[in-house]
Amino acid sequence: MDGNGRWAKARRRPRPFGHQAGAKRAREVVAACPDLGVKYVTLYAFSTENWKRSRAEITALMALFRHYIRKTSHELHAEGARVRFIGDRGPLDKKLVKLIGELEDLTRDNDRVHVTVALNYGGRDEILRATRKMADAVKAGTLAPEDIGEDTMASYLDTAGMPDPDLVVRTSGESRTSNFLTWQSAYAEYEFTETLWPDFGKEQFAQALDKFGLRERRYGGVS
Ligand code: FPP
Repeated sequence: MDGNGRWAKARRRPRPFGHQAGAKRAREVVAACPDLGVKYVTLYAFSTENWKRSRAEITALMALFRHYIRKTSHELHAEGARVRFIGDRGPLDKKLVKLIGELEDLTRDNDRVHVTVALNYGGRDEILRATRKMADAVKAGTLAPEDIGEDTMASYLDTAGMPDPDLVVRTSGESRTSNFLTWQSAYAEYEFTETLWPDFGKEQFAQALDKFGLRERRYGGVS
């Protein structure tokens, strides 16, 4: 969800103003998913690299996450959304971790739309944490190195049990993948758009999906 800072700057407002507008858009995009035929959506809200930002911006973002979880938990549940979080919760503040757990528990049995929020998430960090867990299992004698395949790796990642993404949308004119679902996106299609995240609404999402629908996916095979 890139471009919040530039969106705020263009309006001569502080960066958190852009994040607030971005959070509203995130809510809209989630609400539009059932209508657009999207069963799984993942929002990249905070990366393992985002700790390099100013203390003020990080504090504002964490407050925004807490506020949005409190504000939207019940409506998300009513909409049939199952909400899960991926990323390392260790460094997050206790209040936020508690709210995350409560939202996951509340929506555990929902199946209309699956919403994943990547928070303190990095693809490399996720692979490292999974590798350490596999190494522990090997040491404990519950996993044999020769049995480790792609499915094993997938089952140790934060996204265990979720399908790989078909389409990854990166907003704000950047053509990088920035440590997002590194393992899972191996065969994803990418859509890079100039639109800043706070301007990316249902219509832009529908357009990206239409474009995606026209692409031919060969997964390394032939047509
Ligand atoms: C990147 O834009 C955006 C972020 C680091 C924050 C994204 C978070 C939200 C939109 C809030 C979502 C809320 C919930 C509850 C999921 P940037 O700041 O890098 O923008 P810039 O590149 O223009 O500076």
